[in-house]
Amino acid sequence: MKKLILGIESSCDETAAAVVADGKDILSNIIASQIDIHSYYGGVVPEIASRKHTEAIYTVTEKALKEANVSLSGLSAIAVTAGPGLVGALLVGVSFAKSLAYAAGLPLVPVHHIEGHIAANYLAHKELKPPFICLVASGGHSHIVYADDYLNFEILGRTRDDAAGEAYDKIARVLGLGYPGGPKIDKLSKEGNGKAVKFPRVRFDDCFDFSFSGVKTAVMNYVHNMEQKGEKICRADIAASFQEAVIDILIGNTIAAAKQKNVNTVCLAGGVASNTRLREKMTKEAEKKGFKLYYPEPVLCTDNAAMIACAGYYEFLSGKKAELTLNALPSVKLGQKL
Ligand code: KG4
Ligand code: ZN
Repeated sequence: MKKLILGIESSCDETAAAVVADGKDILSNIIASQIDIHSYYGGVVPEIASRKHTEAIYTVTEKALKEANVSLSGLSAIAVTAGPGLVGALLVGVSFAKSLAYAAGLPLVPVHHIEGHIAANYLAHKELKPPFICLVASGGHSHIVYADDYLNFEILGRTRDDAAGEAYDKIARVLGLGYPGGPKIDKLSKEGNGKAVKFPRVRFDDCFDFSFSGVKTAVMNYVHNMEQKGEKICRADIAASFQEAVIDILIGNTIAAAKQKNVNTVCLAGGVASNTRLREKMTKEAEKKGFKLYYPEPVLCTDNAAMIACAGYYEFLSGKKAELTLNALPSVKLGQKL
């Protein structure tokens, strides 16, 4: 019998529910995005996010079950993002999943959000198996993770300041492009010259950590200097040059980590993994250096619940089960007990 997992995700500004069979077949994947509301404020407003999750979660879950043509009694478990994320936003998903699990007598499986992003690759590529190196780059995280097996993760590098997506969002704001900045910079960069301005690419000698505050400040200073001098800026060139710097940093560390771990499979995950230039440049590197590269389609890169159901499936098989005392864990680290 197939094991059907209902996934629930509400860690930031997407209310999502999905049903996944045996950790690989997506039967439904419903996402209610709040982007329109938050873009009005130029970024995610946590209090608004929580309220919108409360409004949407019931309908989104009902839709996911209906589209998958499954009732609660047909499920094996309910998986929910327990953290990290915005505490109020997480609490909506966690409370809803707890009530549903209690009412339906189903096991409740807590999932780490980053583990979910990594698992999106299993949904997109049925043949993929660990071990591999995964670059997880999103609005809240920039990690290089060694996935030893489905449930074991070693963090080889993390950002020391901004996450990659956060840097994209901030620079998009400086350039007046709006929120979320990643897709906007991605698009505008296609019209610009990535070599127009040489922005710094920070790397550390002894580890695979990231730092994006240097490149962010350099772009801001460049824009302000030009404005002070009354010179016209070419936004497409700045966007492309900024993007080139960020991508070089991401790729450089990821490939070095794969080399150190002696693995020839590399995966991309998280919202920034949908960046067309990152995919293109990484693909070229993979061909040149002879490693296999995987990345999910954009809808599975950004926040969704199918990835939570997939990660939840492997956790469920391992016997992981949360009590109804489960709380939202806004700062939980990957690998920490949920
Ligand atoms: O994974 P995600 O939906 O949420 C978090 O877990 O943070 O990632 C959202 C982030 C935002 O910062 C957004 O600007 C960035 O991913 N993003 C992109 C692209 N699409 C989304 N960054 C670069 N290029 C893109 N095409
Ligand atoms: Zn995410």
